[in-house]
Amino acid sequence: MKLDQTLFGAAFRNPVLLAAGTCGFGEEVWEVMDLRTLGGIVTKSVTLEPRAGNPAPRVAEFRAGMINSVGLANPGARAVRRDKLPWIRDHLRSIQVFVSVAGHTPAEYLEIVRILDDADGFLGFELNLSCPNDTRRGSLPFALDPQALTQVVEGVRSLTSRPILVKLAPNAPDLSLPARAAEEAGADGLTLVNTLPGLVLDPRTRRPALGAGAGGVSGPALRAVGVHAVWRVRQATGLPLLGVGGIASGEDAVQYLLAGASLVQMGTASFWDPRSAERVRNELEHFGRREGVAHVSELVGGALLGSGGVAADPVPSSIPATASTGPDVHDG
Ligand SMILES: Cc1cc2nc3c(=O)[nH]c(=O)nc-3n(C[C@H](O)[C@H](O)[C@H](O)COP(=O)(O)O)c2cc1C
Repeated sequence: MKLDQTLFGAAFRNPVLLAAGTCGFGEEVWEVMDLRTLGGIVTKSVTLEPRAGNPAPRVAEFRAGMINSVGLANPGARAVRRDKLPWIRDHLRSIQVFVSVAGHTPAEYLEIVRILDDADGFLGFELNLSCPNDTRRGSLPFALDPQALTQVVEGVRSLTSRPILVKLAPNAPDLSLPARAAEEAGADGLTLVNTLPGLVLDPRTRRPALGAGAGGVSGPALRAVGVHAVWRVRQATGLPLLGVGGIASGEDAVQYLLAGASLVQMGTASFWDPRSAERVRNELEHFGRREGVAHVSELVGGALLGSGGVAADPVPSSIPATASTGPDVHDG
């Protein structure tokens, strides 16, 4: 099966990317895997000012996955431009790189894009709109507030001609709303999903597993949520979708493609096996060969759903958008 995909005017040698926050800025994982075997990477989310991050432990495993609250630790936009992008330009020419951007206010997103936009070495931006926004209405992330989302995406759209991906939260009551808002505001693609707010407690100490308390759930526990989100949004917009959440095998990736994703991203699996993304790419190829699929694009949106008698989305659209991730800044 051929794996190449052309999207956003760029050639992806295969549909497997590393997800934001799980491969640093590439250099951090260069020793353990050859990133040039992948379709691309998304960098750690970049904030305007440097962030030291949250207290340890920042990551904890549990039976069904992982929970993290790294606190968006990163060197800040100016240092990323000076110290990280030149390395990316020199080493990752043959793959596609998205720089992930996170802010507390719409103005911060715009300022970060202004700082980075005319640097070389990357294809586009992925707007992480799922980090809690602590300057408005408690800590509701932009992705759960279509109006705020529109403000950020329209602002960034007016500043850059690069492709813009918008990364959505899995806990929106009706994902078609932020998806359509992002499309109308000028997004080129959507990334689904970010981590799901969660809490792991130690029953004996009665304390949370993470230093920051609550965090974001990733890994196998998130996979069915992510596949459903992609399927749901596929029906709401025509934008290219990037599926992420719990992918650890080629067949996991196929589920996302069938639901409607054109590309996939992997995070947690790389913590357990640093070369898992390369393995998933190979497994995808074998799957296609075994199943007689000539090109990966034939799988995209191929799930036998909807008119085939499968139950409609169980989420009633009347649920008010009051979900919140709480006061902790977790990643992503
Ligand atoms: C330790 C860790 C750090 C993360 N940091 C970010 C981040 O900086 N920005 C972001 O958009 N997502 C971040 N994420 C979320 C991932 O990009 C991804 O959406 C999520 O982990 C689901 O994929 P997975 O199950 O393959 O890990 C982070 C996830 C983990 C586990």
